[in-house]
Amino acid sequence: MKSLSLSWVTMALATSIFSISSVSAAPAATTSNANAASTSPAVTYNVAGKPSRVSHFGLGAFIETNINSGTDGGLYAEIIRNRAFQDNVNNQANQNDALGKGSLLHWSGTSQSTKLSLSPDNALSSALPQSAVVSGDRNQSCGIANPGWYGISVTTQPHQLSFYARSPTGQATTVPVKIGLYSNDYSKTYTEQTMPLKLTGEWQKFETTLTPSQASSNNNNVFAIKTTGACRDGFQVNLVSLLPPTYEGTVARQDLAQALADIKPVYVRLPGGNDLEGNNIPSWFNWTNAVGDLKNRPGRTPTWTSGWNTEGLGLMELMDLAEKWGAQAVLGIYAGYSLNGEAVPKSQLGPYIQSALNQLHFLLDTSGSWAELRSSYGRSEPYKFDQIEIGNEDWLGAAINTYGAYRWAAFRDAIAKEFPQLTLIASTLKNGVEGAKAVDDHMYSTPNQLFEFTEGMDSTSRDVPIWELEIAVINSGLTNDTDIYSGPGRLQHPTLIGALAEAAFLAGAERNGDIFYSAAYAPIFQNEGPNATQWTPDMLSFNAGQMVKSTSYYIQYAWGNYPIKQIHDASPSTPTNSSHIYHSFGSNSQGALVAKLVNANAEQRTVKVQVGNGSKLSSSGATSWQMQGKNPQQANTLSNPNAIVPQSSSSGLPKGASLGSDGSLTMTLPPYSATVVTLPLA
Ligand SMILES: *[C@@H]1O[C@H](CO)[C@@H](O)[C@H](O)[C@H]1NC(C)=O
Ligand SMILES: *[C@@H]1O[C@H](CO)[C@@H](O)[C@H](O)[C@H]1NC(C)=O
Ligand SMILES: *[C@@H]1O[C@H](CO)[C@@H](O)[C@H](O)[C@H]1NC(C)=O
Ligand SMILES: *[C@@H]1O[C@H](CO)[C@@H](O)[C@H](O)[C@H]1NC(C)=O
Ligand SMILES: *[C@@H]1O[C@H](CO)[C@@H](O)[C@H](O)[C@H]1NC(C)=O
Ligand SMILES: *[C@@H]1O[C@H](CO)[C@@H](O)[C@H](O)[C@H]1NC(C)=O
Repeated sequence: MKSLSLSWVTMALATSIFSISSVSAAPAATTSNANAASTSPAVTYNVAGKPSRVSHFGLGAFIETNINSGTDGGLYAEIIRNRAFQDNVNNQANQNDALGKGSLLHWSGTSQSTKLSLSPDNALSSALPQSAVVSGDRNQSCGIANPGWYGISVTTQPHQLSFYARSPTGQATTVPVKIGLYSNDYSKTYTEQTMPLKLTGEWQKFETTLTPSQASSNNNNVFAIKTTGACRDGFQVNLVSLLPPTYEGTVARQDLAQALADIKPVYVRLPGGNDLEGNNIPSWFNWTNAVGDLKNRPGRTPTWTSGWNTEGLGLMELMDLAEKWGAQAVLGIYAGYSLNGEAVPKSQLGPYIQSALNQLHFLLDTSGSWAELRSSYGRSEPYKFDQIEIGNEDWLGAAINTYGAYRWAAFRDAIAKEFPQLTLIASTLKNGVEGAKAVDDHMYSTPNQLFEFTEGMDSTSRDVPIWELEIAVINSGLTNDTDIYSGPGRLQHPTLIGALAEAAFLAGAERNGDIFYSAAYAPIFQNEGPNATQWTPDMLSFNAGQMVKSTSYYIQYAWGNYPIKQIHDASPSTPTNSSHIYHSFGSNSQGALVAKLVNANAEQRTVKVQVGNGSKLSSSGATSWQMQGKNPQQANTLSNPNAIVPQSSSSGLPKGASLGSDGSLTMTLPPYSATVVTLPLA
C-alpha cells in the first residue's frame, strides 16, 4: 500500500484517467433542482423485476498486520508491550536483522533502587533469547513494570496472567512478589495478588487470574511484579502476558473484533500486505514461526510499526478469527519478494514454494503429519477456504521485474498441482502474469477520483474476476495535491464525503458483482497512541480503552449487512456523473429487492424506483438503513465519536419514502446520505 495504484482496473476502465488538476475541489456542482421533494424526481430508475445475473460480490475485510500498532497493540488483546524483551531500539530501515537485538523498552523498575538488565544467559528458548533480570539494592523491594500499549485501561473483568521466571543465581529460592495493576504513580491499586515465586535455575511458568475490583478512569496505568520484601537476588523473567477476556475464545480484543464481526465480512484477507513480505527476505512471514507455543515464536522485524512483530496473532489465530466472523480466509502467500526490493532468485525459490505447500497442507489436510501437527496445536478440523493470493502488490517497485518473469508461475504451478481446488489470486496482471483466474487490485484516492472511477465500472472487462482488497479515500481532494499521499489534503480520519465515495464504489462493484468478487477497506485498525500511527485514515481508531467507528466503517457495515445474491439491472434516467447519485439494485436471499442509493449532493434529492416485469414493491416487511450528515468533511474521532451515526429500522420505509399504487417507490434522499432499503417484491 505504499504508493498510488493507477491500477490495472483503473487503467483498463477509467473513462477519464485521474487527472489531479481537473479534479474539482468541491463535490461536483449539480444540475438538479434543490427543492426536489415537491417536484419531479431527480432520477428515475427503471429496475428489472427479475434478476439478470448472479452476484459473486462478498464484502471483504483485510487484516493488515502490524501497521498503526493495529494488531500487536490492537486487535491482539495482549496488554503487555515488549513482553519478551525483543523490541529493537530503532528498527527502521537500517536495522533489518531477522531476530532482534532486544531491549528493555517500555519496562521500568518499580523502585528507585531497582536495577533492570537484559540477559542473553539461560535463554527461555531459542526463539526468545533475551530475558530481564530484576535486581538492585538487596534490602529494598525491587520489581518491574509495564505501561501497556500506550496505556492500560483497567476493567473489572478477569485478566489471565502468565509469565516465566527463574532464579538469577540458579539457586533454589522463594521470592514473595506482589502482582497487580496500578495507576502509574502507584497511588491507586486496582488489583493485587501475593504470589510466593518458588524459583530454581529452570524456567517455570506462573499463571493466575487478576480481577480488578474497580475500573480505571484513564489509561495511565501499569502492570507490575514487585517483591513484597527485600529484593535479595531478585528474579529473572520472560514472556509476560496479560490478557483481558477476549472475543469468542480467540486472542482478539473484544470491542475491535466485535466491530469487525458486525460488518459481516464474507472474506478476510490475511496476513499482511507489506508485513507478509517483510523488510527484507530474512524477515518474510515464515508461517512456521507463527504457529504453536508462544515461547517458540521468535517474531520478526515489523514493516511499519516500530518495535517487534510478536506473531502472537499468528496464522491459526487469524484463521480462527476469520472463522468466528463467519468469513472465509483469503490467505496471502509470501511470493519471494521483500520490501527492500530484493527478490529470491529463481534458482533459490524452491524452499519458499515448499513452505507455501506445507502451509496449505497444514491448514487444509484432513489427515497425515501436517494435520497431526495442526491437531497438536489444538485444531483437528481443517480450515475451509477457497482462495489464496500469491504475493502482495507485485506491480510495485522492483517486484514487477520478477513476478511475471518467474515467481507467479512457479508458485501457481506448484500449488495448482497439489491444490487444484484453490483459486489463485494474482497480485497484479501486469508484466505477463499468464492465466490468472483472479486479481487483487488496490486503490487509494480522493472522493472525486473515486466518484469518477465509478463511471466506468459498468464497462469493466469480464475477463478476470476482480478482488479489490485494499480501497480507501485517503485525501480530501480540497487542496489539489499532486501527491495525494503526502499532500496537505491527506485525511486523518474518514470523512462523510469520503465514505459516500466508497459507498458509490461499493454500489458499482455490487451491481457488477458478476466480475467484482470482493472489496475491502484498508487499513482497518489505528492505535491513536503518540506516534503509533503510520497510515491514515483508518476504519476503526482506538486507544487502550476506547474505539471509534468511522463513517467508512458504517458504509462497510451497510454493504455487509444488506448483501444481494442476484443483480437487477437498472437504467437511471440521469447519468451518475450529472446527478451525483449512485445506485445498486439486487435481490437478497429472500428474494426482496435491496436498493442502495448514495446522494453525494449538498441538497436533498428525490428519486423514483420503478420495477418492471410486472413486479411490484411492497412495504410490508420493508427495512431501512441510512447515514447522513450536513458537513461533508465531518469525521468521527475519539473526541467526537458519534458525530455521524446511521439509523436503521427493521420495520417500514425510511422517512421521506412512500410506495405508489403502481408499486413504485419514491424517496427523498437527505443531503450527503447513503440509504439502503429492502422491500419485498411481489
Ligand atoms: C424484465 O425486464 C427487462 C427490462 O426492464 C427485460 O430486459 C427483461 O427481458 C425482462 N425479463 C423477463 C423475464 O421478463
Ligand atoms: C542489608 O541487610 C543486612 C541484613 O539485615 C545488613 O547486614 C546490611 O547492612 C544491610 N545493607 C544495607 C546496605 O543496608
Ligand atoms: C522457516 O522457518 C523455519 C523455522 O525457523 C526454518 O526451518 C525454515 O528454513 C524457514 N524457511 C525458509 C524457506 O527459510
Ligand atoms: C483546486 O483546483 C480547482 C480547479 O482547478 C480550483 O478552482 C481551486 O481553487 C483549487 N483549490 C486550491 C486550494 O488550490
Ligand atoms: C514522536 O516522534 C517524534 C519525532 O520522532 C518525537 O520527537 C516525539 O518525542 C515522539 N513522541 C512520543 C510521545 O514518543
Ligand atoms: C458522464 O459519463 C459518460 C459515460 O462515461 C460520458 O460519456 C460523459 O461525457 C460524462 N459526462 C460528464 C459531464 O462528465
